[in-house]
Amino acid sequence: MNAMNPFLEAAIAMCEEAGAIHARYLHQEQVISEKGVGDLVTEVDRRAEAAIIERLRALFPDHAILAEESGRHAAGEDYIWYVDPLDGTTNYAHGFPAFCVSIALLHRGRVEVAAVHAVALGELFTAARGEGAWRNGRPIRVSRVPDIARSLVATGFSPSVREDGHNIAEFVAFLHRAQAVRRPGSAALDLAFVACGRLDGFWEYRLAPWDVAAGSLLVTEAGGVVTQIDGTAFDPAGRAILASNGLVHEEMRQVLATTPNRHPHTVS
Ligand code: IPD
Ligand code: CA
Ligand code: CA
Repeated sequence: MNAMNPFLEAAIAMCEEAGAIHARYLHQEQVISEKGVGDLVTEVDRRAEAAIIERLRALFPDHAILAEESGRHAAGEDYIWYVDPLDGTTNYAHGFPAFCVSIALLHRGRVEVAAVHAVALGELFTAARGEGAWRNGRPIRVSRVPDIARSLVATGFSPSVREDGHNIAEFVAFLHRAQAVRRPGSAALDLAFVACGRLDGFWEYRLAPWDVAAGSLLVTEAGGVVTQIDGTAFDPAGRAILASNGLVHEEMRQVLATTPNRHPHTVS
């Protein structure tokens, strides 16, 4: 890993600090509130985010920040940090170990560095544009699985699935086509798992930029492909993502494009 990249070093330090907060409160009783039905937030989300923002403000006062719990902290236009202080809050609240902190730095709309830390798994995933992707400091690559029939794929659902059933038809379509389908509950970690070859593909609708920015760079730097659901160029603010090892990308795109009764996914 290029330890000399100061932005990546900062992202790693912030991830480690947030991970320590996750670990400290994991088995303590949580004060849980709901931002919406099924959309949880805990004191740990807020504490981790406050620690990250304090550090970012001190290190890069001219950078903007977009963080899940506190919104946009404006500064210069060129650099912006996307921060999800705890991705997989529902898992966290249940002690289910698929949760992480996800931090990305964008320069003029392009993700430059990424760090995703899953403290309960003991894993830190990092990437820097043009330099590679790593798990605990060792280079990672996407899988070589060539088709969906032999793929382990994953997805997720926003809490609005209760009302509108979005993505259920797609989930069922992949149940019929893939070797198996998972719904781990942390989009950032799902993308890290595509990057290191544990998953062969991942798709999800209705995501926020802080869910996908870091993970998208992990996947592309590990040799994979990341697009919108329809195969067009990925946009971190585009709400939806299709990520894969590259070999199964077109097949996944076609399954998603041809699944009938799709809900209008653009609705927030
Ligand atoms: C959620 C997770 C989950 C995804 C949801 C996200 P949060 O983020 O990434 O996997 O399915 O759409 O909102 O709320 O735990 O940070
Ligand atoms: Ca999230
Ligand atoms: Ca979150």
